[in-house]
Amino acid sequence: MKTRITELFEIEYPIILPGMSWISVPELVAAVCNAGGIGYLASGPLNPDKTRESIRRIRELTNKPFGVGATLLMPGAYENALVAIEEKVPVLNISLGKGENLIKKVHAYGGKVITTVTTIEHALAAEKAGADALQVTGYEAAGHGSQITTMVLIPAIVDAVKIPVVAIGGIADGRGMAAALALGAEGVGMGTRLSITKESPVHDFSKNKQLECGIEDTLYSNRFDALYCRVLKTPSAEKAIKKGRNLPKGFIASFAIAKSLNISWIKLTASILSGSKGEKSEKPKDAGSKTNTKSKPQEEKSLISAILKGPKMGMNLAHMAQAYVAIRRATENGNLDKGVYLSGQVQGIIHDIPTVAEVINRTMKEVIQIQKEMAAKIK
Ligand SMILES: Cc1cc2nc3c(=O)[nH]c(=O)nc-3n(C[C@H](O)[C@H](O)[C@H](O)COP(=O)(O)O)c2cc1C
Repeated sequence: MKTRITELFEIEYPIILPGMSWISVPELVAAVCNAGGIGYLASGPLNPDKTRESIRRIRELTNKPFGVGATLLMPGAYENALVAIEEKVPVLNISLGKGENLIKKVHAYGGKVITTVTTIEHALAAEKAGADALQVTGYEAAGHGSQITTMVLIPAIVDAVKIPVVAIGGIADGRGMAAALALGAEGVGMGTRLSITKESPVHDFSKNKQLECGIEDTLYSNRFDALYCRVLKTPSAEKAIKKGRNLPKGFIASFAIAKSLNISWIKLTASILSGSKGEKSEKPKDAGSKTNTKSKPQEEKSLISAILKGPKMGMNLAHMAQAYVAIRRATENGNLDKGVYLSGQVQGIIHDIPTVAEVINRTMKEVIQIQKEMAAKIK
């Protein structure tokens, strides 16, 4: 198959595994790449050393192009993106930030950047910032999808930009892929579908639970982690959404995150509170400033400046930290009683746990079959 996405990424099929924390690990990424698609390593839960190690592990498992995902609003994401750049990864997927500096650095060694967006405004900004392609996430998606459905959002963004678009959100088979191509997309992403495969490290309990659930069994709310987010409908998810943010719980959770990222709590807090937006300068802005804070460690200074930004950011810290712990529980341990699991509406049309190669091969077969049937229907 040939589209601008297959040409840009030098892959056989324009099918993408997005970066999903604790799921898009080297083994799953490599399985997708070896089957002719492309996977992005989820760098969110990793520190720079682990990011480097994971990139090198992917290279042991495949000689095909792969990507690294960096959610720029999250603590440590910018540093992980810099590691990906040092390692000259073929594709960098950035989200929740423009990352102009990062895009320049990736282009300098010949890599490609695909930016995830959910609005026309952000699509235009990403194109202007130099992104090579866009990954457009519709309402149906697991996690942070748009408030607009894939059916409407894709053609709207395809019309607004010149760079190629990958559609994601609500696509699990050849029917979804054919529809996305008809809407003007030149590739598709599959999160929920590829997370329910044999190679996916998701706990079996969570995988099987999704097979039992229907298209209506998800919740979409901004009370779970401060952004609009779709999760599996469970009593614990309903409870988390009803309660909204819980400052003491979030405060405690933030220590666990700092430990797992192997960074100091102060650095984590400063990073979240200041909301990096992916445009951290290489040198700290106030380095060498004439103020009397000169003797304080850099991270302490940024914490102070972040706190001065106001309590809303502090609330978001608590909210994000709570969500992080709940999602990890459901993904790694299959604990859906206390955890919260991200899942898309397509869970209701997924009925098996095949290998990654089976998903990709049958999706492509279905697309070709649909193309023939459509040609026969439209005369
Ligand atoms: C189990 C699971 C975990 C996910 N984790 C993340 C994540 O950590 N970061 C992120 O940006 N998106 C995450 N997503 C969202 C995907 O990147 C993608 O946008 C979404 O799955 C696309 O919609 P679909 O599930 O309908 O294919 C996750 C999705 C799933 C299913």
